[in-house]
Amino acid sequence: MGTEHFDSKAADWDKDPAKVSRAQEIGAAVAESVPLAPGTRLLEYGAGTGLVTQALRDRVGQVVLADNSAGMRQVIEEKIAAGLLPDAVVWNLDLERHPVPDEQFDLVVTALVLHHVRDLPTVLSGFAALLRPGGHLCIADLDREDGSFHQHDFDGHHGFDRTDLSEALRAAGFAEVRVEDCTTIFKEGASYQVFLATAMRS
Ligand SMILES: C[S@@+](CC[C@H](N)C(=O)[O-])C[C@H]1O[C@@H](n2cnc3c(N)ncnc32)[C@H](O)[C@@H]1O
Repeated sequence: MGTEHFDSKAADWDKDPAKVSRAQEIGAAVAESVPLAPGTRLLEYGAGTGLVTQALRDRVGQVVLADNSAGMRQVIEEKIAAGLLPDAVVWNLDLERHPVPDEQFDLVVTALVLHHVRDLPTVLSGFAALLRPGGHLCIADLDREDGSFHQHDFDGHHGFDRTDLSEALRAAGFAEVRVEDCTTIFKEGASYQVFLATAMRS
């Protein structure tokens, strides 16, 4: 999928209270699931407008927000200029297409992004390369769904089977994989379960 869909949604993204509260719930679940400290270096991949990082901002150190949508990155830049995301850096990064940056993080968080990614093993290997050994990965995403979640042109994953994702994480170099319920998204009269998968870089 190109970036046009999210480019066009970026300016109004935070006007939807459901998206804001969902990101806060995911941030709270991350904070409960992995160790955070003032020195924790965080990468949020597919950060959108940075809502999940905003929820974690006071509990971690330097943050990098990566997204392949110029519209989303523009909103993040505006938040940085407004002082809402102190000590934040923005990357144009698509791990399916770009080389993995030569940087190391303590924590990678990605929320509702991986179902948009086609080449999951490449992206998971990219996360492993970006984490120091012992660092943590947190993935919030949809459980397997019937394909009704996306109304727009969509060629990604209809959610994930938890067992399959756990195996893909181990194959990419992660250990201590856990998957737990995180939140529920209500959309067009249907409900969609969101899990939080956590894993440690071996
Ligand atoms: C559903 S939005 C979620 C945004 C944010 N994580 C949140 O929870 O509010 C998915 C985000 O992933 C980004 N994205 C999709 N595919 C990507 C890719 N291959 N590389 C980087 N970002 C991607 C989109 O531009 C969009 O900002």
